[in-house]
Amino acid sequence: MTTSPIIRENTLQHDIHRPKYHFVPAQNWMNDPNGVIQWKGRYHLFYQYNPHGANHANMHWGHAVSDDLITWEELSIALSPTANEYNCGGIFSGCIVDDNGTPRAFYTGVNKDNSVQTQCLATGTDDLVEWTHDKNNPIITDLPEEMGQAEDFRDPFVWEGDDGWYMVVGSRIEGVGGTILLYRSNDLINWTYLNPLFTGKNALTGFMFECPNFFQLGNKWVLIISSHIGHTTGTVLYWVGDFIDNKFIPEVEDVLDSGYSYASLTHLDDQGRRLMWSWVREGRDEQSFVEAGWSGVQAFPRVLTLDNQNRLCMKPVEELATLRQTSHHYTPDALENPIQIRDLHLEVQASFKVGDETSYGLDILATSTGTEKITVYFDRLTETIRINRTYDESNNRNDIYVQGLPHTLDDNETLDLHILLDGSTIEVIANERTSITSRFYPEQVNDPKIHVMNPSSIVSLDIWEMQSIW
Ligand code: FRU
Repeated sequence: MTTSPIIRENTLQHDIHRPKYHFVPAQNWMNDPNGVIQWKGRYHLFYQYNPHGANHANMHWGHAVSDDLITWEELSIALSPTANEYNCGGIFSGCIVDDNGTPRAFYTGVNKDNSVQTQCLATGTDDLVEWTHDKNNPIITDLPEEMGQAEDFRDPFVWEGDDGWYMVVGSRIEGVGGTILLYRSNDLINWTYLNPLFTGKNALTGFMFECPNFFQLGNKWVLIISSHIGHTTGTVLYWVGDFIDNKFIPEVEDVLDSGYSYASLTHLDDQGRRLMWSWVREGRDEQSFVEAGWSGVQAFPRVLTLDNQNRLCMKPVEELATLRQTSHHYTPDALENPIQIRDLHLEVQASFKVGDETSYGLDILATSTGTEKITVYFDRLTETIRINRTYDESNNRNDIYVQGLPHTLDDNETLDLHILLDGSTIEVIANERTSITSRFYPEQVNDPKIHVMNPSSIVSLDIWEMQSIW
């Protein structure tokens, strides 16, 4: 196996839809973040990766490393399928833990036709570059008897508790809804099923839970799941509550991100931050991304915290600021005309004093005519954050539905929009607690502009042109 870094192909650099400051592999398909860990100071990001094309097939774990969460070096593939029945169909999502100085990866192995999913273990070298599948694999083969199906049993998430190791795995109960199964182990190889940690309801939270995360934050426990709705849609949900006698008692529940962000994975870094990574899927059809030669983006890492109402709050890691180039600070009187921007690789922070108007937000225009634009705004009457994409007819796009999430401002709270726009990827976080991720594929970017709605409501507006990390 080669350990040399991948030389990045420059052939894709003129693709206006490629991100410049979010992680993407040099080419091909990427989906979920896997096994993210800070190891000997360096951040290691693994991800679902197809080395043979830009479609979802041949799942391997790709690998990239960073010293600063900003610039990445893509390394050789970490985990590949073998000829063994238990993982010959692919290496699905999972996590990595530090077993007293030894890196251990947990993943879901799938058989040839993806009809059997089992939980598996691999051990890494000290630089996390080479991995050996464990001879005891698969280490968890059977679902608890009452579940009765083996094809939806995946995405192990492991943590060390006071009295041993714990694992949660995503699954579903036929006719009931998505469920999260809890296991315990003393040696990371032999696992005992304890009980369901949490079960949802089909109609409310979806029929299958993927990519569970369960961790302590402050004095509460947080469960994050990706609710699998169909092959191309899903939503990330969270619950905050207590964990007593192996049972989770949720108190607060909400949507963590809606739209194009999925399969979120969290880990603690050396500074004690709970960082969250997510896959930003494509909004274009398979033929378009296969032709483009790449698919999938990693969302910018976010720090998770709880506020005084135990709502999950998030903001991009502060390292983001090192990418800021030219900055523009605007006052309301300078906003009557649209603002000229260099390109669609920006960070925007806007605060609005919400009064009697119906909408507060901004339009980002890909061209000066404004026929292709993305609109991010707060609809005061329905208390909703919305993203609206407008395209030229010739662009022939079908992902034009309006995305929205409920958002209630607390008394005297300003509306704070934090926007990371990077080619076709846009992440919007409102007041650090309502998040919508989207994709926007204009035909061209030419003389782009930002138009602010109701400029007199602006309390502050900062726009930064962002540096490329490649
Ligand atoms: C989520 C997911 C996981 C699975 C992986 C396969 O996007 O479906 O449940 O492990 O992707 O690539």
